[in-house]
Amino acid sequence: MSAQPNSPIGVFDSGVGGLSVLRAIRRVLPGESAIYFGDQIHIPYGPRPMEQIRRYSETITKFLLRQQAKIIVVACNTASAAALKDLRAHFPEIQFVGMEPAVKPAAERTQTGRVGVLATPATFQGALYASVVERFATGVELFQNTCPGLVQQVELGNLEGKETRQILESALYPMLEKNIDTVVLGCTHYPFVIPMIEQIVGENVRVIDPAPAVAKQTQRLLEAGGLVNPASAGGVLTLFTSGDVKSLQSLLPVLLGESADMTHVEWIGETHIQQTGDSTTPTQA
Ligand code: DGL
Repeated sequence: MSAQPNSPIGVFDSGVGGLSVLRAIRRVLPGESAIYFGDQIHIPYGPRPMEQIRRYSETITKFLLRQQAKIIVVACNTASAAALKDLRAHFPEIQFVGMEPAVKPAAERTQTGRVGVLATPATFQGALYASVVERFATGVELFQNTCPGLVQQVELGNLEGKETRQILESALYPMLEKNIDTVVLGCTHYPFVIPMIEQIVGENVRVIDPAPAVAKQTQRLLEAGGLVNPASAGGVLTLFTSGDVKSLQSLLPVLLGESADMTHVEWIGETHIQQTGDSTTPTQA
């Protein structure tokens, strides 16, 4: 069956990070149903080989297509860096919205000409980042840092604790010493700790979360493809995780601001995903 306006939007990430993008999509497109896949059993993707991230991304795409997704949002900078080009080549029947560090808007707005970028090791290694830097960072100095351990803290819901603060301070202080006035969040897990980032960098440094722009791009592509759901509200949300359904269910209100039905899935090797029948609804959580 080909994609229909009432088919869901497919969204995936290595874990809960993509919920920052899903949250923005829900604001812009409240009538759209969405299916979200969090590959929590394999988190973090950031330190993994590109080839493996590509295989995971392909298998997840096939799974989302089986759930009738009409467009797929790769709500993960790391998976976009490793797999977006390949996904577009392998699945020409569906449109993908990918993520890249928002160097362009940062370069346009910086006053000091110095911009910090936070992302995972794989994102910095990918050709996508190199091309973003080449196209948009002319005349701007970029200061890059990874945040080892931050993704795991966000997965635990530790958005305000000591460990999280230490990781962020280690990544941000060297950039602040270089007089940056803008920080780009190049990993979808990081917007959940914006309040703490803002405390550390102070009010003179702008923090850029690309999620609203990605939501707008999703809307534009759906409009161009005649795939917008005519409903103005009431889109249904369904989540799949390869991790623990109960822990994810308990984090949802904090991270997404709403609850949803959730089903556990299991990997069979690296090329197949199946539902295990283990699921929760918000009231059971
Ligand atoms: N949320 C992901 C990103 O945007 C990756 C986190 C990870 O699994 O390392 O890069």
